[in-house]
Amino acid sequence: MTRTQQRADLVVIGAGIAGLTAALSAAERGLDVVVLNKGSRWDGAQRAGGQGDQAQGDQAQRDQAQGEHSTSTFYAQGGIAVVDPAVPEDSIELHVADTLGAGAGLTDPVATEPILTDGWPAVTQLVRRGADFDSVDGRFLRTREGGHSVRRIIHAGGDATGARVQAALGGAVGGSPVTVLDDSWASEVLTSDGAVSGVAYVYGGVRSVLWAPTVLIATGGVGHVYAATTNPSGATGDGIALALRAGAHVADLEFVQFHPTMLFVPGARGRRTLVSEAVRGEGGRLVDVDGRSVTDGVHRLGDLAPRDVVARAVRAAMARTGADSVYLDITGVDDFAGRFPTVTAGVRASGLDIDGGLLPVVPGAHYLCGGVVTDVDGRTSVTGLFAAGETARTGLHGANRLASNSLLEGLVMGRRAAEQAVERAGLPVREVDVPGVRVAPVLDRASLQDAMSDKVALDRDAQGLAEVAALLRGAAERRLDDLAAAEDAALLLTAKAIVAAAQAREESRGCHARTDFPERSAVGVSRGFAFVDDQLVPVAEVETSQAIGVSVGF
Ligand code: FAD
Ligand code: SIN
Repeated sequence: MTRTQQRADLVVIGAGIAGLTAALSAAERGLDVVVLNKGSRWDGAQRAGGQGDQAQGDQAQRDQAQGEHSTSTFYAQGGIAVVDPAVPEDSIELHVADTLGAGAGLTDPVATEPILTDGWPAVTQLVRRGADFDSVDGRFLRTREGGHSVRRIIHAGGDATGARVQAALGGAVGGSPVTVLDDSWASEVLTSDGAVSGVAYVYGGVRSVLWAPTVLIATGGVGHVYAATTNPSGATGDGIALALRAGAHVADLEFVQFHPTMLFVPGARGRRTLVSEAVRGEGGRLVDVDGRSVTDGVHRLGDLAPRDVVARAVRAAMARTGADSVYLDITGVDDFAGRFPTVTAGVRASGLDIDGGLLPVVPGAHYLCGGVVTDVDGRTSVTGLFAAGETARTGLHGANRLASNSLLEGLVMGRRAAEQAVERAGLPVREVDVPGVRVAPVLDRASLQDAMSDKVALDRDAQGLAEVAALLRGAAERRLDDLAAAEDAALLLTAKAIVAAAQAREESRGCHARTDFPERSAVGVSRGFAFVDDQLVPVAEVETSQAIGVSVGF
């Protein structure tokens, strides 16, 4: 086995909105940047049904077989929540208030205000990099989603926002000096004396190392901890596992957001089609199998209440009627297929009929609100290690993310992390012994997913959590010599961390509902965990006060 070694100023793990934004921003400042992407190179053709290019490696084969893109960014539909300074009815204060409202008392206002304020400059820069949003007379069109008090979500290609953004960023990277290593999976963040040294990665079975003073983890979500999810197949919690093993802290992992409207296909597993919340913003209505409103009397915002509220209302309607799903009535949406071409294609590809006007939907695992703890510049608790995008926990999302705040956060935090990489460029790097193939516990993926879906999804209780914890503890060790095994190990460690966090939170708040602790505590606490001697241990328990802005400490 050949081992190659290189140096860079910044290594970015992940090629979604956070990773590519960071890479471009750092390269524009003269840094030597390498991006690792376990997915295949995408030239824009795959979405239109083309064959892609010379994709190689195990993930490439899987992507092609499933026709998948590796980033959640690519699949984003609704859009980007951002305050356009020229819109008089909106303001940063209002966007902050909506974000805090959705976050159920755990959102950190000290992080929220600067991230949202940076949104418009970040979007402007994205447009300069080639992104194009739907507009009329030179003004962006804006839609509405759950928890937003005004229309502030800009979109592209109707509901193809993510694909357009991914294409723009990919095009900009192609014309930049950034080196992108596709089909290359990061296996280890290397550290020495609590500081980053680089990243070990695998390409085509060959193990290599990139030494760098700064490493950014931008690996996206964890959806495949569950049996059915809106996330692409690579959303296996790699960033959470890489960060924990490198000594960084995580927090708020119990807050897994279930999107209320994932298309329901009986028995289907893996990535499922999302039906954007923007459909409800444009007149869609949630009804049960008997045609009654799902959210009447539940929340003042009705079908556009925050996501956790609507997901629970959907689940309650299913329990009340005994039906397998509820329905999104789209008959009130003007030109549905024209406004929502991505949803339309997804529904048709699932063999369902769009013309009847009723789409069967259920809540589906969608987004990890917590993650690797960072400050507002993306710093983790390990020197030189940064995190951005869905894998990070900045404090913006609290116990429940406000719709369409994720792409915004990836844009803003990618830029901010790049600024830090510029500051750190040229710092000495201590090269360490490179570990060989790791051995780690791994559980059969379907068993893990089924247990998490049954007992650690919308509703949890002490007994169910203890049963899943025992199952996860019983996993057998194996060599992580290919991507699938490494992903399984990441899924297991991520699931363990989610369960530990859910066990520790003896209350119901935001996305986390305990049937044995149905009340919300008077005081919100954000908990950090570290991975010490192969155990997840609590490291911080700090009250988050929206009044004084205290957040989780390292
Ligand atoms: P991703 O875009 O997921 O990119 C992760 C990257 O990391 C990929 O390139 C992957 O290959 C790479 N990677 C992972 N592990 C490794 C490894 N070990 N080694 C190397 N590379 C690795 N948010 C909004 O704000 N608005 C929306 O409208 C919206 N709609 C959504 C619709 C869907 C269907 C989904 C799934 C999500 C949606 N979200 C939306 C959420 C949002 O899209 C994601 O949170 C966001 O795109 C995450 O960006 P990211 O850069 O953090 O990660
Ligand atoms: C959607 O379009 O409903 C997804 C938006 C999001 O996850 O922020």
